[in-house]
Amino acid sequence: MLDKIKALQDEVAAINAATKEEAEELRIKYLSKKGLIGQLFNEFKTVPAEHKKAMGAAINDLKVFALEKINTLKDSFSESNLGANGVDLTLPGEAMKLGTRHPLAVVRNEIIEIFARLGFVVSEGPEIEDDWHVFSALNFPPEHPARDMQDTFFIEKDPDVLLRTHTSSVQVRMMEKTQPPIRAIFPGRVFRNEAISARAHCIFHQIEGLYVDENVSFADLKQTLLYFARELFGEKTEIRLRPSYFPFTEPSAEMDVSCSICGGKGCNVCKYTGWLEILGCGMVDPNVLNLSGIDSEKFNGFAFGMGVERIAMLKYGVKDLRLFFENDVRFLNQFKSAY
Ligand code: DAH
Repeated sequence: MLDKIKALQDEVAAINAATKEEAEELRIKYLSKKGLIGQLFNEFKTVPAEHKKAMGAAINDLKVFALEKINTLKDSFSESNLGANGVDLTLPGEAMKLGTRHPLAVVRNEIIEIFARLGFVVSEGPEIEDDWHVFSALNFPPEHPARDMQDTFFIEKDPDVLLRTHTSSVQVRMMEKTQPPIRAIFPGRVFRNEAISARAHCIFHQIEGLYVDENVSFADLKQTLLYFARELFGEKTEIRLRPSYFPFTEPSAEMDVSCSICGGKGCNVCKYTGWLEILGCGMVDPNVLNLSGIDSEKFNGFAFGMGVERIAMLKYGVKDLRLFFENDVRFLNQFKSAY
């Protein structure tokens, strides 16, 4: 009888079914009362008492083995897991890909955070502007050559409607509607008629800052910018201010930070000078205050403006500005940040 059990075991191990019905036939063939395994239980009655224990266990094992095998076959035809259109609802779902913030947004938010700690609020202005807010109110007289510093996209010439070339326009809007004390930054997109290259683009981003109050000094400007530079580039960062010219500030300066890549020793990023230029700044020209309705006898202030792309390039070692606009996910995925 043991041989018979062994032979049936091998037979069951080899069974297969092409349909659900065939699997049911196999169940009847082996497991029904009169089936091949069922009959073994009848024969079992005739087994001598001393072999009953071993034989009973062997028959039971065979029965369990056959039951599992046939159930597995049946399950493979079961439709119970399928949804309305034959989709297997038990399959794992497609993982949702988590996005990341754009590197320019990361840097912008970081800069906003730093100035927020100094009490600067955030305000925004329109991208489609007029001549007054972009140029005239900032002390650019109509034919002044300083207008050539910013090659402008005009939408209409008369009246002058244009895409803002800098976020300094938002300074004017702020001063027109608010009396000092003013402590605000203005992030936003700006537009210039520039050929696109690794270092320039016709669309880019700036963050402007404005501080107007009584008795504001150049030392206040310097200390604010030093704090900012150290928060953004690290506590060892040094700044230097070089005299410059902007129509809306007097005196004006350009600010460099010590190169965070070589620590000021000189490398190819800072062109072996140890310094990187990151923003323009100065004391607000009294004319600008007066033009916006702020009494320049009583108040004064400072302003600054920086390019977000430039800072992001320096911070992350990005060599080509165009990468920020192509939005290749292989590039974007590298910027994971709390901001
Ligand atoms: N608006 C200037 C530009 O786009 C940057 C700038 C320079 C802004 C000096 C300022 C400033 O507020 O004080 O090049």
